[in-house]
Amino acid sequence: MADQYEVSETGAGTLAIPSLRWEEFPESPAVVLLDQTRLPAEEVELVCTDVPALVQAIQTLAVRGAPLLGIAGAYGVALAAVRGFDVEEAAQALASARPTAVNLGYGVRRAVTAYRRAAAGGDGAEAAAAAALAEARAVHAEDVEASARMAQHGLDLLGELLPGGGHRILTHCNTGALVSGGEGTALAVALAAHRAGELRRLWVDETRPLLQGARLTAYEAARAGMAYTVLADGAAGSLFAAGEVDAVLIGADRIAADGAVANKIGSYPLAVLARHHRVPFVVVAPTSTVDLETKEGAAIEVEQRPGKEVTEFSLPHIQGGGVVGGTGIPVAPLGALAYNPAFDVTPAELVTAIVTEAGVVSPVTRERLADVCSVSRWR
Ligand code: MRU
Repeated sequence: MADQYEVSETGAGTLAIPSLRWEEFPESPAVVLLDQTRLPAEEVELVCTDVPALVQAIQTLAVRGAPLLGIAGAYGVALAAVRGFDVEEAAQALASARPTAVNLGYGVRRAVTAYRRAAAGGDGAEAAAAAALAEARAVHAEDVEASARMAQHGLDLLGELLPGGGHRILTHCNTGALVSGGEGTALAVALAAHRAGELRRLWVDETRPLLQGARLTAYEAARAGMAYTVLADGAAGSLFAAGEVDAVLIGADRIAADGAVANKIGSYPLAVLARHHRVPFVVVAPTSTVDLETKEGAAIEVEQRPGKEVTEFSLPHIQGGGVVGGTGIPVAPLGALAYNPAFDVTPAELVTAIVTEAGVVSPVTRERLADVCSVSRWR
């Protein structure tokens, strides 16, 4: 049985969202997560004192979003090391918990490499565990800085693309403080525009089937005082047709060497709509999301999730029990087959720009992407 339990509600009403932290409780160190399956109805923390608990939290999307998965993976390795568990086994379990977001493997690799290096140097188990934890803290701190840099680069880019100001931005899934040590990726750019008085409206795709837009992005936008409107994913087309969208801003789970972008299912149709309506389609992601080993978009492994996420309304935030374990209300006939890929892949030719902490890639080509990655301090 995984060692995972809930603690009291976190303080509501503050803008800073503590999505994940390392905590040294007297009985055990722990990775403490804001349980995202319960938002927006409840702010409940999940305390993971071992790796199986953290893996379960990753798989049920209690913790989610590419950068935060990297941070969680790194702390998970540290947790195994500090508690004296098998670090290699833990690293393997964490890295394979979800297949698409490359940041998860990146965070795990950083912490396990630090651990191995210290262990190989004969430093002893305690020092090796301390090295893993220090590396996890570094991954976390770098994400805070990357997030701030992406927000600034993204704001500058919006100024160039949309010189008139008063932006109406459409976003998909959730890309804010809930997926980051800082303020996130795409939503951090929208937040920067809001603070600069440049955001007229944030259009929030609900993001079927797990509603990361309606539940999480709207929650963050409301806390930040942004002017936002939630729409059903299928309503985006008529919004474009009505001329109500100036730019699309999304995040990414993995960017292949050819610039193809894997992101939450429903992103690719937005890219097609944006091209048809001549609206910029901008991806915001740290260079840790770029996977130069994956040569092209078609090679990206797309996670397939349980069909009942589509055929049932699970409403875990109301019913409790997590997205996967929730008791769903059927919305399709018993036994209906469901197609439920968690992500889709948008080819580079539909992407106007990729905003990273190390600079903006536009036009999106293999060469320019590799150049930006080569100047990143953290790759
Ligand atoms: O399945 P999820 O909720 O983990 O998917 C998250 C997304 O697709 C985000 O858009 C992506 O991770 C970018 S967040 C910076």
